[in-house]
Amino acid sequence: ATAAEPYDVIVIGGGPGGYVAAIKAAQLGYKTACVEKRGALGGTCLNVGCIPSKAMLNNSHIYHQTLHDTAKRGIDVGDVKLNLPNMLKAKENSVNALTSGIESYLFKKNKVDYIKGTAKFASATQLNVALNEGGETQIEGKNIIIATGSEVTPFPGIEIDEKQIVSSTGALELQEVPKKMVVIGGGVIGLELGSVWSRLGAEVTVVEFMGSIGAGMDAEIAKNFQKILTKQDLKFKLNTKVIGAEKKDGKVLLNVEAAKGGKPETLEADVVLVSIGRRPVTKNLGLEEIGVELDNRGRVVIDDQFNTSVKGIKCIGDATFGPMLAHKAEEEAIAAIEIIKSGHGHVNYDAIPSVVYTHPEVAWVGKNEQELKEAGVAYKVGKFPFSANSRAKTNQDAEGLVKFIVEKETDQVLGCHIIGPNAGEMIASACLAVEYQASAEDIARTCHAHPTLSEAFKEAAMAAYDQPIHM
Ligand code: FAD
Ligand code: NAI
Repeated sequence: ATAAEPYDVIVIGGGPGGYVAAIKAAQLGYKTACVEKRGALGGTCLNVGCIPSKAMLNNSHIYHQTLHDTAKRGIDVGDVKLNLPNMLKAKENSVNALTSGIESYLFKKNKVDYIKGTAKFASATQLNVALNEGGETQIEGKNIIIATGSEVTPFPGIEIDEKQIVSSTGALELQEVPKKMVVIGGGVIGLELGSVWSRLGAEVTVVEFMGSIGAGMDAEIAKNFQKILTKQDLKFKLNTKVIGAEKKDGKVLLNVEAAKGGKPETLEADVVLVSIGRRPVTKNLGLEEIGVELDNRGRVVIDDQFNTSVKGIKCIGDATFGPMLAHKAEEEAIAAIEIIKSGHGHVNYDAIPSVVYTHPEVAWVGKNEQELKEAGVAYKVGKFPFSANSRAKTNQDAEGLVKFIVEKETDQVLGCHIIGPNAGEMIASACLAVEYQASAEDIARTCHAHPTLSEAFKEAAMAAYDQPIHM
């Protein structure tokens, strides 16, 4: 396109927010372009986030289980060896298959113009794109969607070299298993990638500033989770702050002390993972120049229809408010395009699930007990442990529980918190319950197949509304 033939919709960024917005816009008949600088579509999620981390989580789990959890199942295995280069290759194959699928299949099928380059606003309707192959082009759009995502928050004074001091990106491509790994931040990335390297043989210590792990999960579940991970040999230093790091004789020396002040201590590590959160990518986009408002954390300020302070420009995904999750970005992408088309589109922020893909998995949706207490809402809790679920016991994988939190008066599901095998799949039912405003009784009276893990879900709902049978 030239300035003479503007696009209906231009999306900046090809992550789960951006590529989904582009496909949806094209499906609704809009002439659409997506600008991505990375050289591959799929954004953080497919290239250096969700997908490669899940490849490593899945395969490290199989390795670990083969080493430690076969004899009691009647499987005698021989000499089990880690082939890290091949495990990394399997991860890369998954990533490449998915990212190239968007380019060669989904974008082609839907006729999205994929522009490989870095976009910057020249005006409210025009973008200059520095092309990856060299040179520059200018494109014009009636609607422009900012979906530039997020990047790792640096730790002041600790420089990430992606070899010894790594972000999640480096932690997904370590070429050998570190003997000792220290993780700064006991949130989702720290626990997932800490688990990966622990299973592969590293001695992993997680240093967390707060008094609990899991960055905002239900406190009871977080405690349970920490116990389970401790049994898996992860070590935790809670209420601990990192003061600084120095490199010496091939090691990293990390100075830490109690968060409230106290005796400093030095932790030695071969690799340090910095995972203290992510920040939006909103610099060098020309936003200030055209008057797009940012908040004090660099997030693009939007209204409830994803409009920025400049007409015709919307923002979705990690670059704006809300949880930094791929499925949240995708929901917003579809809603934003539908709003352009019809003025209507909807995301239910109360029904966005969170999943930590460790083993067992942790998954939740809706409110936790801390939040309801703070809001002064009267609630009831119903719980059911996997140790009383026939399938989990039969699978010899029965750690964890399902916990429902329901409104006291009406029995309506306000939150569901699961720690257990396949929690990430099971949470989908709880999302439906929240979305449809179901009660615990609705779930308790719904037939669930036997023998399945989902019976624990049903029995926890029974416990919230009446009584479970198997406990
Ligand atoms: P991004 O995916 O960050 O995509 C933005 C894209 O915009 C990037 O590709 C970037 O190159 C491009 N871009 C930026 N500026 C420009 C510019 N000026 N011009 C052109 N292109 C530009 N979420 C989950 O839901 N589940 C998970 O299991 C999960 N695991 C994760 C694991 C890790 C290790 C990490 C780091 C993240 C994980 N996330 C997970 C979070 C998830 O990756 C993000 O929430 C999601 O990618 C956000 O999508 P987005 O489209 O907003 O941004
Ligand atoms: P996070 O916000 O999940 O956790 C960061 C943790 O670091 C918190 O527990 C926080 O208290 C702690 N922390 C902050 N400053 C600290 C300091 N100075 N010293 C010690 N601890 C400190 O962030 P994380 O793990 O980096 O992940 C970023 C985002 O990526 C997540 O919020 C999530 O949105 C997304 N993500 C999602 C995944 C999933 O859905 N399974 C997997 C991985 C990432």
